[in-house]
Amino acid sequence: MQQIKVTPAAVLKPKPDQSKLGFGKYFTDHMFVMDYTDGIGWHDPQIVPYGPIPLSPGALVLHYAQETFEGMKAYPARDGRVLLFRPEMNAKRMSTSNARLYMPEIPVEDFIGAIRELVLYEKEWIPTLPETSLYIRPFVFATEEAVGVHPSKTYKFVVILSPVGAYYPEGMNPVKIMVEDFYVRAVRGGMGFAKTGGNYASSIKAAAEAGKKGYTQVLWLDGLERKYVEEVGAMNVMFKIDGEVITPPLDGSILPGVTRDSVLTLLKHWGVPVIERKLSIDELMEAGENGRLEEGFGTGTAAVISPIGELCYKDKKVTLGGFKTGPLTQKLYDTLTGIQWGDLKDEFGWVMELK
Ligand code: COI
Repeated sequence: MQQIKVTPAAVLKPKPDQSKLGFGKYFTDHMFVMDYTDGIGWHDPQIVPYGPIPLSPGALVLHYAQETFEGMKAYPARDGRVLLFRPEMNAKRMSTSNARLYMPEIPVEDFIGAIRELVLYEKEWIPTLPETSLYIRPFVFATEEAVGVHPSKTYKFVVILSPVGAYYPEGMNPVKIMVEDFYVRAVRGGMGFAKTGGNYASSIKAAAEAGKKGYTQVLWLDGLERKYVEEVGAMNVMFKIDGEVITPPLDGSILPGVTRDSVLTLLKHWGVPVIERKLSIDELMEAGENGRLEEGFGTGTAAVISPIGELCYKDKKVTLGGFKTGPLTQKLYDTLTGIQWGDLKDEFGWVMELK
């Protein structure tokens, strides 16, 4: 990557109250921007004041959604270090997503380099209260001015930063999940494995309808038979049935989550029986009704480990673990956040110090 040009903001914003951050409501003073032009490649990396991005109304992204994004966090260690968690996994996943959307890939070292420079430049914005962090949102979008459907000849890579607290208002308390039995999120051969806005756009109506009934999110079923459990949009899911943790396999329609992979690694390391296999909604609800469904939780960068307290499918409802956070869910949360915040030994080489 070329040298990053820095243009400091003329006026810095006041920092928000760390106890009232919520998720994704505040943004820091600067952002990273880099352009791509066919025949030239990625060029002109810059850190500029956070603000509107000039975009033609004819920009391809506005019409055909040629766009990808990532979600990461910078964690404040007690000893003053700034830590990232497995950033190369996000960099590689963005490459996979970009390839699916027929967009240029960003070299892993440039992706991480952009984040390093921006986060260190905005270090003062990293919140320090427990369970807060600096959320990192890298994204790439098509900027060519044209309305014919074709791959754009120009793109922008942008990184913005947001000091955040818990993703769900429930925090670490169990969430209620509605199993979606009509809409589907992704089909095999589609874009389910890619982190692209379209997957999330198609989820908004279902989530809004579930929200009106008091549910925090929807659990998607497979797009072919609406029979097998897939994911919860903002997180992957795992269920502990009869002592074994079950999570759906990565078969193309599910996002390959960084937290998902880390949890699988931790469970195997602890000797907890764990399997990636298809799990039908009937099997899941039956286990819930028979008292064999011990715990359920979502995994994601934003959501971390989020306990599931209730599942509703058609006219059936099951409560998981008495609507309390289960012991394995809590242990996973404590271990993962302990490693991410630098309080626990990083046995797996997951943490990268920014300096
Ligand atoms: C993340 O977990 O970082 C995500 O990108 C999910 C998003 C919907 C908040």
